[in-house]
Amino acid sequence: MTYHAYHLHLSQEMVQGVRVALIPGAPERCSEIADFFGESHQIAYNREYRSVISESREGKILVVSSGIGGPSLAIAIEELVRLGIRYFLRVGTCGAIAADLNPVDLVVSEGAVRLDGTSGHYAPLPYPACADTEVTTLIVRACRELGFPYRAGITCSSATFYPGQERYDTFTGYVIRELQGSLDEWRRLGVLNYEMETATLFTMARVFGMRAGAVCAVLVNRLTSEEPDHATYKEAESRVSRAAVQTAKLILKELIW
Ligand code: URA
Repeated sequence: MTYHAYHLHLSQEMVQGVRVALIPGAPERCSEIADFFGESHQIAYNREYRSVISESREGKILVVSSGIGGPSLAIAIEELVRLGIRYFLRVGTCGAIAADLNPVDLVVSEGAVRLDGTSGHYAPLPYPACADTEVTTLIVRACRELGFPYRAGITCSSATFYPGQERYDTFTGYVIRELQGSLDEWRRLGVLNYEMETATLFTMARVFGMRAGAVCAVLVNRLTSEEPDHATYKEAESRVSRAAVQTAKLILKELIW
C-alpha cells in the first residue's frame, strides 16, 4: 500500500526517485532554494511544511520546511524517511557564539550539543549527535567553491530561542540559574553557534541509518548584537541557500545510493 504522509501531505508517487532533501526552517524560503537548483514547483503545503520539488540535469531534490525547533522537524524527518528520502541537509540561520564569526559567515556543523529536548525521544543523552562525514566534507567543498567564509565545528541546538540561548530581552528578563552563564561556557568549550534543529536531525538520521549534514548562516554574533538588519538577513539566506544547493549537486554526483 502506498504511504501518504500525515503532516507533509505527500505520497510516495509524488516524490518517486527523490533521495535528497534540503530542510530550511521557514516555508517562504523553500522556493528560492529550489530555484537555485533547477526547475521547481510546489507539490504540497500544510501547516509549517511546504514541499517544493526541483529538477536539473544533476537530478531531483525536494525542499521541505521544518518549522522552528526539534518537535516539528522530527515529524518532517519521520515522514520523509518513509517517503524514501536518504540524505538530509539542514539549511538554516544561527547566532554565533565564537568571537571570530561575523554576520553572513557560514557554520558547518560536525556535531551538535543536544539541548534540543526532542532528540531524547530517539536516543538517550550520552548518544552523540554527529553529522555524516562525507556529507559534511561536501558542504565544506561547496563553501570553498563558492568562496564563502565558513567554519566547521560544534553547534548548540537549543529547545528555545530565548532562555536556552541565554537571551535576557524577554518578558521576565530572567533566565533560570541552570542556563545563566551558559553562552560564555559554550564559547569557552569551543562551540561555534546556536540554532534549534541540528541535534534533532543528526540524532534521528544516525538512529535511522540515514545521512545528514547542516549548514547555517550567521545572523548575529551574540557577543555583540541581538538582532540582524534586513540586508544581513537577505545576504545570509542567499549564501546558505547557494551553499546547500551546491552541496546537493555534489551529493547527487558523488554519493547517491
Ligand atoms: N536561530 C537561532 O536559534 N538563534 C539565533 O540567534 C539566530 C537564528
